[in-house]
Amino acid sequence: MTIPSNMSSQETEKLFAKYVIPNYRRYPVNLVRGEGSVVWDSEGNEYLDFFPGWGCNLLGHCPPRVVEAVQRQVATLIHVPNTWHMELQGQWAKMLVERSFDGQAFFCNSGAEANEAAIKLARLHQGPDRYKIITMQGGFHGRTMGALAATAQPKYHAGLGPMVAGFVYSPPFDLNEVEKRIDDTTAAIMLEPIQGEGGVQIPTAEYLQGLRSLADEHNLLLIFDEVQTGGGRTGEWFGYQYFGVQPDIMTLAKSLCGGIAGGAMIARRAIAPSLRAGMHASTFGGNPIAAAAGIATLETIEADGLLAQAKANAARFAERLGELAEQCPHIREVRQAGLMIGVELDFDGSEVVTACLDRGLLINCTHTTVLRLLPAMNINAEQIDRGISILADALTERISAITQPESLAPST
Ligand SMILES: Cc1ncc(COP(=O)(O)O)c(C=O)c1O
Repeated sequence: MTIPSNMSSQETEKLFAKYVIPNYRRYPVNLVRGEGSVVWDSEGNEYLDFFPGWGCNLLGHCPPRVVEAVQRQVATLIHVPNTWHMELQGQWAKMLVERSFDGQAFFCNSGAEANEAAIKLARLHQGPDRYKIITMQGGFHGRTMGALAATAQPKYHAGLGPMVAGFVYSPPFDLNEVEKRIDDTTAAIMLEPIQGEGGVQIPTAEYLQGLRSLADEHNLLLIFDEVQTGGGRTGEWFGYQYFGVQPDIMTLAKSLCGGIAGGAMIARRAIAPSLRAGMHASTFGGNPIAAAAGIATLETIEADGLLAQAKANAARFAERLGELAEQCPHIREVRQAGLMIGVELDFDGSEVVTACLDRGLLINCTHTTVLRLLPAMNINAEQIDRGISILADALTERISAITQPESLAPST
């Protein structure tokens, strides 16, 4: 590479300010290297990462088998279009299907794209008169126009209308409300098994089973957006297995390729062929590098026993966060499904994220008050304990700032 990569965080910030569209709120930190659950910035500061890659780095940063597979593949065949067969893509599809349900895969590059494919497949399969898709308020399905229309959160639609027609929004966790919205034009019910961006909202298995029954009764397709819950996040391969309720179509991305971009839709065998030749495509979908990384990701999870490790780590998080919640009355609730964790506060959590960053811990805050942790499956016990104690310190600092504002106010 001819461009030197030795800029400070401050210099990088200036570079972005001039040349990169400011559509993200970015922290003033230039991350340069990662290993497992640790990342470093250009100043050499070390951070413990409880939110690696927004959930994409479920195996931690730079998982060795994925690194090796990508290095090997990039020197062999970087890209071939989907007008050719390519064994790796076929093997990857087989491995995903063998770990989920009997179906077929379509590959793409992101979660939004996987959801676009699911929306199109549902409409094509159900025929021209049945096009409506019921989605849940507070859900999140991505930023492309179809996925955005499926996302029932007005704040993400503001200024972008008109939205793609044909989506009907229902209050979450209420079967009667969903049933009321079903009519002759309804094609599918689409939701995240656990709302992630919506604040780690975990349903009961009975609710998801109820949706399954409604779908069966009315001949609708049940689509699970598993972009965040899939790939081992809950301690099961896929979130639907955590609840024991099988969808007709499932979408995957984020952790699918161990940190490399990749997305997929898996559809039941009876449905999948409705996405017939010529009706959908993705130039880079299922490319050799993504396929090699995706296969290496599945192999790593199996070879390292990471589903079991995720469960053990989830139990440790539950214990530590339970202790923290007992000591901290400002924690309203801890919600957790495996390594998908939300800590609901009774105040704005964004300053807690900054206080954690100052102490070398990376976390996220969603829906204003929910601290979100999506740690790697292979994080170790010492890192969990250390991170929770940093979180406790950060919470203490913020709570004392909020509860004693007069002590900080200048005296008059
Ligand atoms: C459940 C869910 N679906 C879809 C998406 C969109 O994925 P992407 O950003 O890869 O398009 C996200 C991203 O956070 C997500 O959490």
